[in-house]
Amino acid sequence: MAKRIEVKDLDIYYDKFLAVQGVSMTIQPRSVTALIGPSGCGKSTFLRTLNRMHELVPGARVDGKVFMDDEDLYGPGVDPVSVRRQIGMVFQRPNPFPTMSIYENVAAGIRLNGGRMKKSELDDVVERSLRSANLWAEVKDRLNRPGSGLSGGQQQRLCIARAIAVQPGVLLMDEPCSALDPISTQAIEDLMLELKTDYTIVIVTHNMQQAARVSDVTGFFNLRGVGQPGELVEIDETTKIFSTPSNKATEDYISGRFG
Ligand SMILES: Nc1ncnc2c1ncn2[C@@H]1O[C@H](COP(=O)(O)OP(=O)(O)O)[C@@H](O)[C@H]1O
Ligand SMILES: [Mg+2]
Repeated sequence: MAKRIEVKDLDIYYDKFLAVQGVSMTIQPRSVTALIGPSGCGKSTFLRTLNRMHELVPGARVDGKVFMDDEDLYGPGVDPVSVRRQIGMVFQRPNPFPTMSIYENVAAGIRLNGGRMKKSELDDVVERSLRSANLWAEVKDRLNRPGSGLSGGQQQRLCIARAIAVQPGVLLMDEPCSALDPISTQAIEDLMLELKTDYTIVIVTHNMQQAARVSDVTGFFNLRGVGQPGELVEIDETTKIFSTPSNKATEDYISGRFG
Protein backbone atom coordinates (compact mmCIF):
# COMPACT_ATOMS: atom_id res chain seq x y z
CA MET A 1 0.00 0.00 0.00
CA ALA A 2 2.72 2.51 0.95
CA LYS A 3 4.38 3.73 -2.23
CA ARG A 4 7.84 4.99 -3.11
CA ILE A 5 8.18 8.42 -4.70
CA GLU A 6 10.99 9.26 -7.05
CA VAL A 7 11.57 12.82 -8.23
CA LYS A 8 13.93 13.46 -11.13
CA ASP A 9 15.28 16.88 -12.04
CA LEU A 10 12.13 18.77 -11.19
CA ASP A 11 11.82 22.48 -12.03
CA ILE A 12 8.69 24.19 -10.75
CA TYR A 13 7.22 27.35 -12.24
CA TYR A 14 4.54 29.91 -11.47
CA ASP A 15 4.14 31.33 -14.98
CA LYS A 16 7.63 32.51 -15.89
CA PHE A 17 8.89 32.51 -12.30
CA LEU A 18 11.12 29.53 -11.59
CA ALA A 19 10.27 28.90 -7.92
CA VAL A 20 12.18 25.65 -7.38
CA GLN A 21 14.99 24.23 -9.48
CA GLY A 22 16.52 20.84 -10.15
CA VAL A 23 15.11 18.70 -7.34
CA SER A 24 15.88 14.98 -7.38
CA MET A 25 15.06 12.73 -4.45
CA THR A 26 13.75 9.30 -3.55
CA ILE A 27 11.18 9.04 -0.78
CA GLN A 28 11.05 5.59 0.79
CA PRO A 29 7.80 3.89 1.78
CA ARG A 30 7.01 3.29 5.46
CA SER A 31 9.11 6.20 6.59
CA VAL A 32 8.76 9.87 7.45
CA THR A 33 10.65 12.34 5.28
CA ALA A 34 10.86 15.89 6.63
CA LEU A 35 11.45 18.92 4.41
CA ILE A 36 12.98 21.92 6.17
CA GLY A 37 14.39 25.28 5.10
CA PRO A 38 13.78 29.01 5.40
CA SER A 39 10.45 30.55 4.47
CA GLY A 40 9.93 31.07 0.75
CA CYS A 41 12.41 28.43 -0.43
CA GLY A 42 9.65 26.40 -2.06
CA LYS A 43 8.88 23.60 0.41
CA SER A 44 5.09 23.93 0.04
CA THR A 45 5.38 24.41 -3.70
CA PHE A 46 7.47 21.26 -4.01
CA LEU A 47 5.10 19.25 -1.79
CA ARG A 48 2.12 20.23 -3.97
CA THR A 49 3.85 18.97 -7.11
CA LEU A 50 3.95 15.46 -5.62
CA ASN A 51 0.17 15.06 -5.90
CA ARG A 52 -0.37 17.40 -8.85
CA MET A 53 -2.02 20.11 -6.78
CA HIS A 54 0.53 22.70 -7.91
CA GLU A 55 -1.04 22.95 -11.36
CA LEU A 56 -4.34 24.09 -9.82
CA VAL A 57 -2.76 27.57 -9.73
CA PRO A 58 -3.34 29.15 -13.17
CA GLY A 59 -0.08 29.24 -15.16
CA ALA A 60 1.70 26.89 -12.77
CA ARG A 61 3.63 23.98 -14.28
CA VAL A 62 6.59 21.66 -13.85
CA ASP A 63 9.45 20.25 -15.91
CA GLY A 64 10.95 16.92 -14.92
CA LYS A 65 9.57 13.68 -13.57
CA VAL A 66 7.76 12.35 -10.53
CA PHE A 67 7.19 8.63 -10.19
CA MET A 68 5.05 6.81 -7.65
CA ASP A 69 6.49 3.31 -7.69
CA ASP A 70 6.70 2.79 -11.45
CA GLU A 71 3.91 5.17 -12.44
CA ASP A 72 4.97 8.42 -14.14
CA LEU A 73 2.62 10.87 -12.39
CA TYR A 74 3.04 13.52 -15.10
CA GLY A 75 2.89 11.01 -17.95
CA PRO A 76 0.46 11.34 -20.85
CA GLY A 77 -3.07 10.33 -20.00
CA VAL A 78 -2.58 10.41 -16.22
CA ASP A 79 -5.62 11.92 -14.53
CA PRO A 80 -4.49 14.45 -11.90
CA VAL A 81 -7.69 13.85 -9.92
CA SER A 82 -6.78 10.20 -9.57
CA VAL A 83 -3.25 11.17 -8.45
CA ARG A 84 -4.73 13.41 -5.73
CA ARG A 85 -6.89 10.50 -4.59
CA GLN A 86 -3.88 8.28 -4.13
CA ILE A 87 -1.67 10.91 -2.50
CA GLY A 88 -3.52 12.55 0.37
CA MET A 89 -2.73 15.96 1.80
CA VAL A 90 -3.12 17.60 5.20
CA PHE A 91 -2.70 21.36 5.51
CA GLN A 92 -1.49 23.85 8.08
CA ARG A 93 -5.01 24.92 9.06
CA PRO A 94 -7.29 21.97 9.78
CA ASN A 95 -10.01 22.12 7.12
CA PRO A 96 -12.85 19.73 7.97
CA PHE A 97 -15.99 20.25 5.90
CA PRO A 98 -17.70 22.67 8.32
CA THR A 99 -21.32 21.71 7.82
CA MET A 100 -20.67 17.97 7.89
CA SER A 101 -20.74 15.68 10.91
CA ILE A 102 -17.62 13.96 12.17
CA TYR A 103 -18.85 10.73 10.57
CA GLU A 104 -19.59 12.40 7.24
CA ASN A 105 -16.21 14.12 7.18
CA VAL A 106 -14.46 10.77 7.25
CA ALA A 107 -16.97 9.15 4.88
CA ALA A 108 -16.62 12.12 2.50
CA GLY A 109 -13.19 10.98 1.35
CA ILE A 110 -14.66 7.66 0.28
CA ARG A 111 -17.77 9.17 -1.28
CA LEU A 112 -15.73 11.71 -3.26
CA ASN A 113 -13.77 8.78 -4.61
CA GLY A 114 -16.98 7.32 -5.94
CA GLY A 115 -16.81 4.41 -3.52
CA ARG A 116 -20.16 2.67 -3.08
CA MET A 117 -20.43 0.80 0.16
CA LYS A 118 -23.09 -0.66 2.34
CA LYS A 119 -23.76 1.38 5.48
CA SER A 120 -22.20 -1.31 7.68
CA GLU A 121 -19.02 -1.34 5.56
CA LEU A 122 -18.82 2.43 5.65
CA ASP A 123 -19.30 2.37 9.43
CA ASP A 124 -16.33 0.01 9.67
CA VAL A 125 -14.09 2.19 7.52
CA VAL A 126 -15.05 5.31 9.47
CA GLU A 127 -14.29 3.61 12.77
CA ARG A 128 -11.02 2.13 11.54
CA SER A 129 -9.88 5.50 10.16
CA LEU A 130 -10.78 7.36 13.34
CA ARG A 131 -8.97 4.71 15.40
CA SER A 132 -5.89 4.98 13.18
CA ALA A 133 -5.97 8.76 13.65
CA ASN A 134 -6.13 8.28 17.45
CA LEU A 135 -9.45 10.12 17.56
CA TRP A 136 -12.03 7.35 18.02
CA ALA A 137 -12.12 7.40 21.82
CA GLU A 138 -12.77 11.15 21.84
CA VAL A 139 -15.57 11.20 19.24
CA LYS A 140 -17.29 7.81 19.23
CA ASP A 141 -20.26 9.16 21.20
CA ARG A 142 -20.74 12.21 19.01
CA LEU A 143 -20.18 11.03 15.47
CA ASN A 144 -23.21 12.95 14.23
CA ARG A 145 -22.09 16.29 15.65
CA PRO A 146 -20.36 18.81 13.35
CA GLY A 147 -16.64 18.36 12.76
CA SER A 148 -16.23 22.08 13.27
CA GLY A 149 -17.14 21.64 16.96
CA LEU A 150 -13.88 19.83 17.70
CA SER A 151 -10.73 21.48 19.05
CA GLY A 152 -8.01 22.45 16.56
CA GLY A 153 -5.93 19.38 17.37
CA GLN A 154 -8.94 17.10 17.07
CA GLN A 155 -9.89 18.73 13.76
CA GLN A 156 -6.41 18.06 12.44
CA ARG A 157 -6.69 14.38 13.45
CA LEU A 158 -10.13 14.33 11.77
CA CYS A 159 -8.50 15.61 8.57
CA ILE A 160 -5.90 12.86 8.88
CA ALA A 161 -8.69 10.29 9.38
CA ARG A 162 -10.42 11.64 6.25
CA ALA A 163 -7.17 11.41 4.28
CA ILE A 164 -6.35 7.84 5.35
CA ALA A 165 -9.92 6.52 4.93
CA VAL A 166 -9.21 6.05 1.23
CA GLN A 167 -5.94 4.21 1.96
CA PRO A 168 -3.62 6.55 0.07
CA GLY A 169 -0.20 5.37 -1.05
CA VAL A 170 1.41 8.55 0.27
CA LEU A 171 0.41 11.18 2.85
CA LEU A 172 1.68 14.75 2.48
CA MET A 173 1.54 17.15 5.42
CA ASP A 174 2.36 20.85 5.11
CA GLU A 175 3.22 22.22 8.57
CA PRO A 176 0.38 20.18 10.12
CA CYS A 177 1.16 21.34 13.67
CA SER A 178 1.93 25.00 13.17
CA ALA A 179 -1.59 26.10 14.20
CA LEU A 180 -1.70 23.72 17.19
CA ASP A 181 -0.81 23.90 20.88
CA PRO A 182 2.05 21.74 22.24
CA ILE A 183 -0.21 18.92 23.50
CA SER A 184 -2.03 18.62 20.16
CA THR A 185 1.32 18.82 18.40
CA GLN A 186 2.60 15.91 20.46
CA ALA A 187 -0.53 13.90 19.56
CA ILE A 188 0.07 14.48 15.83
CA GLU A 189 3.76 13.61 16.16
CA ASP A 190 2.88 10.36 17.96
CA LEU A 191 0.36 9.64 15.24
CA MET A 192 2.95 10.15 12.47
CA LEU A 193 5.22 7.60 14.12
CA GLU A 194 2.34 5.09 14.21
CA LEU A 195 1.15 5.80 10.67
CA LYS A 196 4.57 5.36 9.11
CA THR A 197 4.30 1.59 9.54
CA ASP A 198 1.59 1.67 6.83
CA TYR A 199 2.19 4.85 4.87
CA THR A 200 4.79 6.94 3.13
CA ILE A 201 4.75 10.29 4.92
CA VAL A 202 6.27 13.58 3.75
CA ILE A 203 6.06 16.48 6.17
CA VAL A 204 7.07 20.11 5.71
CA THR A 205 7.98 21.68 9.02
CA HIS A 206 9.64 24.90 10.13
CA ASN A 207 10.27 23.23 13.49
CA MET A 208 13.66 21.56 13.43
CA GLN A 209 13.08 19.74 16.72
CA GLN A 210 9.98 18.25 15.17
CA ALA A 211 11.90 17.12 12.08
CA ALA A 212 14.52 15.55 14.37
CA ARG A 213 11.84 13.80 16.47
CA VAL A 214 9.59 12.37 13.78
CA SER A 215 11.56 11.87 10.59
CA ASP A 216 13.87 9.18 9.27
CA VAL A 217 15.17 11.30 6.41
CA THR A 218 15.47 15.09 6.21
CA GLY A 219 15.78 17.26 3.12
CA PHE A 220 17.09 20.81 3.45
CA PHE A 221 15.86 23.38 0.91
CA ASN A 222 17.43 26.81 0.54
CA LEU A 223 17.55 29.88 -1.66
CA ARG A 224 20.79 31.31 -2.98
CA GLY A 225 19.31 34.80 -2.86
CA VAL A 226 16.24 36.95 -3.30
CA GLY A 227 14.48 36.15 -6.59
CA GLN A 228 16.56 33.00 -7.03
CA PRO A 229 14.87 29.61 -7.23
CA GLY A 230 14.76 27.35 -4.20
CA GLU A 231 16.79 24.17 -4.38
CA LEU A 232 17.31 20.97 -2.45
CA VAL A 233 20.71 21.45 -0.81
CA GLU A 234 21.00 18.00 0.70
CA ILE A 235 18.92 15.08 1.82
CA ASP A 236 20.11 12.35 4.14
CA GLU A 237 19.29 10.34 7.23
CA THR A 238 17.89 12.72 9.83
CA THR A 239 20.57 11.80 12.39
CA LYS A 240 23.25 12.69 9.84
CA ILE A 241 21.64 16.01 8.82
CA PHE A 242 21.38 17.07 12.47
CA SER A 243 24.87 15.93 13.50
CA THR A 244 27.26 16.08 10.56
CA PRO A 245 25.59 17.62 7.50
CA SER A 246 27.68 17.69 4.33
CA ASN A 247 26.86 21.25 3.40
CA LYS A 248 27.85 24.46 5.19
CA ALA A 249 24.46 26.08 4.54
CA THR A 250 22.69 23.11 6.15
CA GLU A 251 24.92 23.39 9.19
CA ASP A 252 24.25 27.12 9.47
CA TYR A 253 20.51 26.56 9.18
CA ILE A 254 20.21 23.74 11.69
CA SER A 255 22.35 25.61 14.19
CA GLY A 256 19.97 28.57 13.90
CA ARG A 257 22.31 31.00 12.15
CA PHE A 258 19.62 31.99 9.64
CA GLY A 259 16.03 31.36 8.59
N1 LIG B 1 0.32 30.83 -5.87
C1 LIG B 1 1.52 31.37 -6.10
N2 LIG B 1 1.72 32.17 -7.17
C2 LIG B 1 2.93 32.72 -7.42
N3 LIG B 1 4.02 32.51 -6.65
C3 LIG B 1 3.89 31.73 -5.58
C4 LIG B 1 2.64 31.12 -5.24
N4 LIG B 1 2.81 30.39 -4.11
C5 LIG B 1 4.11 30.54 -3.77
N5 LIG B 1 4.75 31.34 -4.64
C6 LIG B 1 6.18 31.73 -4.60
O1 LIG B 1 6.97 30.55 -4.68
C7 LIG B 1 8.10 30.66 -3.82
C8 LIG B 1 8.09 29.48 -2.84
O2 LIG B 1 6.98 29.63 -1.95
P1 LIG B 1 6.52 28.48 -0.94
O3 LIG B 1 6.48 27.20 -1.68
O4 LIG B 1 5.29 28.94 -0.29
O5 LIG B 1 7.74 28.45 0.11
P2 LIG B 1 7.82 27.79 1.58
O6 LIG B 1 6.69 26.83 1.71
O7 LIG B 1 9.17 27.15 1.62
O8 LIG B 1 7.73 28.93 2.55
C9 LIG B 1 8.01 32.01 -3.14
O9 LIG B 1 8.79 32.93 -3.89
C10 LIG B 1 6.54 32.35 -3.27
O10 LIG B 1 6.34 33.75 -3.29
MG1 LIG C 1 5.13 26.70 3.09
